[in-house]
Amino acid sequence: MDRAEGAGGRREAKRLNDILGGQPADATLLAEIYDLEHDAIVEDLAFYRQMARRHPGSVIDLGCGSGRLFGPLVAGGATRLVGIDGSPSLLERAQGRIEADGYLRAAGAEGRIELVEGDVRRVRRGDRFALAIMAGVLAHLDGPEDALRALAAARRLLAKDGMLVVDTLGPGGLPAHDLPLSVDWERSDGGRRMVRRSKLERRETPEGLRVAYATLTDVVRADGTIARLPASWRLWYPSPAALVALVTEAELVVESVFGSHDLDPLDDDSERCIVVARPTGAYPRRG
Ligand SMILES: C[S@@+](CC[C@H](N)C(=O)[O-])C[C@H]1O[C@@H](n2cnc3c(N)ncnc32)[C@H](O)[C@@H]1O
Repeated sequence: MDRAEGAGGRREAKRLNDILGGQPADATLLAEIYDLEHDAIVEDLAFYRQMARRHPGSVIDLGCGSGRLFGPLVAGGATRLVGIDGSPSLLERAQGRIEADGYLRAAGAEGRIELVEGDVRRVRRGDRFALAIMAGVLAHLDGPEDALRALAAARRLLAKDGMLVVDTLGPGGLPAHDLPLSVDWERSDGGRRMVRRSKLERRETPEGLRVAYATLTDVVRADGTIARLPASWRLWYPSPAALVALVTEAELVVESVFGSHDLDPLDDDSERCIVVARPTGAYPRRG
């Protein structure tokens, strides 16, 4: 690789690593809107609380975003929690979440929560974890090669009897058609009005569904000025079979595959695809 390619490679890695920083809009405001949308997702919280309970010890949340899962993981008994994300703006919000929640604040004050800016495809640490979580992250990786890197990195972080949870959209949760630009939601918040529009274009490929997803958010401030925030992402969704093959290639053994956070079996209509895997060579768990 010559120097020019090397620099380009680093730029590409950075772009994929920080999903908000690479956008032509203010990353802090994008992160705030991201939270407005993602904090509304609560159907998986009991599942993650239960996972932390079933795998006692330290937990690493790979692609933790603004720490949406921190509450359930600590409530489930995580003795230590490491959150890794590529977006400084989202990590800042994760820090804010910790400070705003008495339970998380206490865990943080005891040194039990650590936030790290990093790339899930390259993360290396000296410590090992009872539970590693990759929730909603795979779609942001560029395809099978990057996914394999991230899965292998996650496997190296696991304790001998540790468990990895990979959580992505299932076949029934994927968009079936392109969607033209249209309004997703409108809401008022702290004297501002926000209107979110989005469009998506899908493409079936041999390695899974590729989705070009673009959003346009207008924030109308109390003084009448408007901030217009465009953002776009290239998302990737492997089939369940392809994901299981990648997990296996990363030297993990699949323990279970679920089609929902209620542990329903996976089928063609499942909205989620949740793969639970342990490192090759670890003893199967009892019970
Ligand atoms: C849809 S969000 C999910 C956040 C969180 N896991 C949750 O379930 O609420 C995807 C997250 O993955 C992070 N991410 C994407 N690619 C990454 C990478 N290569 N390294 C680190 N974080 C990454 C994004 O910054 C974002 O916070």
